[in-house]
Amino acid sequence: MTEIIPISDASIASAVTRLKAGRLVAFPTETVYGLGADATNASAVACIFAAKQRPEFNPIISHVASRAAAFEFGKETQVAAALADAFWPGPLTLILHRTNLCPVAMLATAGLDKIGLRVPAHDGAQMLLRAFGRPVAAPSANPSGKISPSTAYHVLHGLGENVEFVLDGGPSKNGLESTIIDCTGPKACLLRPGSITREAITTALKEAGLDPSITIAKPLDDQANPIAPGQLKSHYAPRAKMRLAAKTKQPGEELIGFGAILGAGKLELNLSPSSNLIEAAANLYSMLHAADATGTEEIAIAKIPNTSLGEAINDRLRRAAAPRSI
Ligand code: TXA
Ligand code: MG
Repeated sequence: MTEIIPISDASIASAVTRLKAGRLVAFPTETVYGLGADATNASAVACIFAAKQRPEFNPIISHVASRAAAFEFGKETQVAAALADAFWPGPLTLILHRTNLCPVAMLATAGLDKIGLRVPAHDGAQMLLRAFGRPVAAPSANPSGKISPSTAYHVLHGLGENVEFVLDGGPSKNGLESTIIDCTGPKACLLRPGSITREAITTALKEAGLDPSITIAKPLDDQANPIAPGQLKSHYAPRAKMRLAAKTKQPGEELIGFGAILGAGKLELNLSPSSNLIEAAANLYSMLHAADATGTEEIAIAKIPNTSLGEAINDRLRRAAAPRSI
């Protein structure tokens, strides 16, 4: 049975206990409800993809209580500082380079070196983030491909038994997702229009004495499915070539195992010795990075079943293994 509980000190305390235990908590923000997990716990983040039945891994926004916390995890730029001053806490997500010590799981940023950060203004979200004290990874709390929820009931209706605990903070004031701005370049780049208008962004940049022009790009999960998978330029693909469905290690390869196919090579990595797909998803990006860092020419990876989270893992692996244009 899913619990839907109004926000109070007691319900926030049990939400925090759940997050610390690696479980999911749906919570209100002023934009839409989010499906939250401890962003530093890769297995917990993997559970988000499983609950949303997402067939691929898109990067997930990390929510924090304050501007200071956000710039601990993402590198501050002039554009970011100006927009944070103008709109945080509020319905704005900034894309920044991860800081060197950023503890957010690689799975939450889909293996990218950029992180999405948001400081929501909603009182309930603020209570939760302050009490938890760590970043909370949260996409909108709807099944993949369905519309975003603006009430606790929408969350229950969409996710059903896939969500155990929903903090009810009443209807979301905006009902429209946050505006997403990539702040890693000299100009602000709009990835997703949202609750904060383009005019408001321009004004804030102008007032801060910065270039007010905004370039426009699409967020990663809106980009048309690349025909040659793996060609999402900003997506992490290992330097090494990739060989899928490997049974044994060939000379010079680093083999990443799964289940009974054991890892072999310098690191002897195994995505999940017990064939657990949540564990495999949690390990995927960090193991690809680690295998690549050995300097091997080819990374081989055992076959992953194409059920539940396996679908997203295989989508990612196909992209990583696709022929490279450069
Ligand atoms: O209002 C909102 O933003 C809500 C609440 C819960 O905060 N969240 C939300 O999350 O709408 P989601 O996952 O449904 O949409 C997040 C978008 C996706 O399009 C994703 O590709 C993009 O943000 N995104 C997140 N991190 C990114 C990154 N590191 N680089 C590029 N895009 C990123
Ligand atoms: Mg969404």
